[in-house]
Amino acid sequence: MPLDTKSYEIPVARSAADLREAVAAWRAEGLSVALVPTMGALHEGHLSLVDLARKNADRTIVSIFVNPTQFAPNEDFSAYPRTEAADAAKLEGKADLIFAPNAEDMYPEGFSTTISLTGVSEPLEGTFRPTHFAGVATVVAKLILRAMPDIAIFGEKDWQQLMVIRRMVADLDIPTKILGGPIVREPDGLALSSRNVYLSPEERKAAGQLNVILRETAASVANGAPISEATAKGGKRILALGFEKLDYLEVRDAASLAPFPNDRPTAPARILVAAKIGKTRLIDNMPV
Ligand code: PAF
Repeated sequence: MPLDTKSYEIPVARSAADLREAVAAWRAEGLSVALVPTMGALHEGHLSLVDLARKNADRTIVSIFVNPTQFAPNEDFSAYPRTEAADAAKLEGKADLIFAPNAEDMYPEGFSTTISLTGVSEPLEGTFRPTHFAGVATVVAKLILRAMPDIAIFGEKDWQQLMVIRRMVADLDIPTKILGGPIVREPDGLALSSRNVYLSPEERKAAGQLNVILRETAASVANGAPISEATAKGGKRILALGFEKLDYLEVRDAASLAPFPNDRPTAPARILVAAKIGKTRLIDNMPV
């Protein structure tokens, strides 16, 4: 299949062969390449990652693929917003190529390899979404191996995902540099997420308080409060806002995501939260 240059202003590669051909042409000119993997439904958070890519490489590829293997059967795979034309319009003048494969191209019949992870993938999201990071790591490895970019960029909003990908790339000797892009927030501090569209007006209002509680809990730990006390208080406040379920509110080692044994941070720390309001599960994090 040739590159699709008709549907949008930016050319679209739909197969690994087309993607590789486009990248080979850039390589022949001596150009460096960045990859920004996404699942589409692009917002300013994604676009900030694309800006970071442009600052760090000559050419930028944005992949758009709603990866089925990182969703559990009870999750929102079929409801996940798919907005390719709008995404392509947002990328005009920013990205050089969109890579938008279909599921049959990524996972042809007989596909049977999954990256299995331990360590940093196990706590937090790993506890509540036990198959999630294997799906993420496998698709990210495939996207990187298809594009062979100099750098690949991921948002810090999914902090644990970023740590898992750094680990996977180091462990598998993948010669791509991984960069994290800072979280972009709404004026009230709500971290931008493609899933925010699910929130009702009332839920959206409560969701805007999540980052406030996160910041105040982090400040209280930074000021010397024991982690368990500060997070227990913060957790109660989150539930009082109308969140039905708090999966976790934890202060962890920022790189390994291991808990601190003495209830106080002894290395760079990160506070991380996952909580459910209505049918929407929100995650957020920040440094302590
Ligand atoms: O962060 C995401 O949008 C996805 O997990 C990723 C990295 C594109 C893999 O599907």
